[in-house]
Amino acid sequence: MKHYAVAIDGPSGAGKSSLARAVAGDLGFIYVDTGAIYRTVGCYVLRQGVRPSDAQAVEALLPDIEIRMGYGDDGLQRMYLNGEDVTEAIRTPEVSMCTSKVAAIPAVRAFLLEMQREIAQEQSVIMDGRDIGTVVLPDADVKIFLTASAEERAKRRYRELREQGEHKDFGVLLVEIEERDYNDSHREIAPMRPAEGAVLLDTTDLDFEQSCRSLREIIQEHMGL
Ligand code: DC
Repeated sequence: MKHYAVAIDGPSGAGKSSLARAVAGDLGFIYVDTGAIYRTVGCYVLRQGVRPSDAQAVEALLPDIEIRMGYGDDGLQRMYLNGEDVTEAIRTPEVSMCTSKVAAIPAVRAFLLEMQREIAQEQSVIMDGRDIGTVVLPDADVKIFLTASAEERAKRRYRELREQGEHKDFGVLLVEIEERDYNDSHREIAPMRPAEGAVLLDTTDLDFEQSCRSLREIIQEHMGL
């Protein structure tokens, strides 16, 4: 049976994961959040107290890292680092910043490449990240570059934190988002950019339902579903 692959790339906070998860559920595909896989490496590097910009020291840690991905009873992706469930631990701002630096190291990207490809060989997937359409799955059936303005992404993050009872300065959030965008799109290896033939979906002026509908339409149109 043919396995379908949908590659979604774009900057943090554009809504990739919540949209991809919702649409994957509709289509009966597995949703794979590759950012979580990179975050698991970032989490280990942070815990070891190694500087994320020290490529040699980070590379030396890789043989000690065993990453596993699974799905909980709720259907959500869970990440295991050397057997420990780190699904929540990988979501801190410290891990975010560390991961953005660690992800620029060629040895880290090579370490994770096969794992991502193998997942897509085994089932139909919607995979999101930064280089899925350009590097990981260049032959994907549909490639989408999903984005929104930095201001809008910072606003969404601000509201999300407020709903969780946290307050963070909007200006600080915006600077963090811009810094991560810069790191992700200016690194030498596999920088974030739209893949050739990618469909651009800008959700700046769309709410969640409208974004979901647009994403579903793009996928169905390209796959003839
Ligand atoms: O999508 P996210 O914010 O959870 O990703 C965390 C970091 O990992 C982010 O700085 C970009 C990086 N990343 C990457 O370089 N390549 C991917 N395929 C996915 C994420």
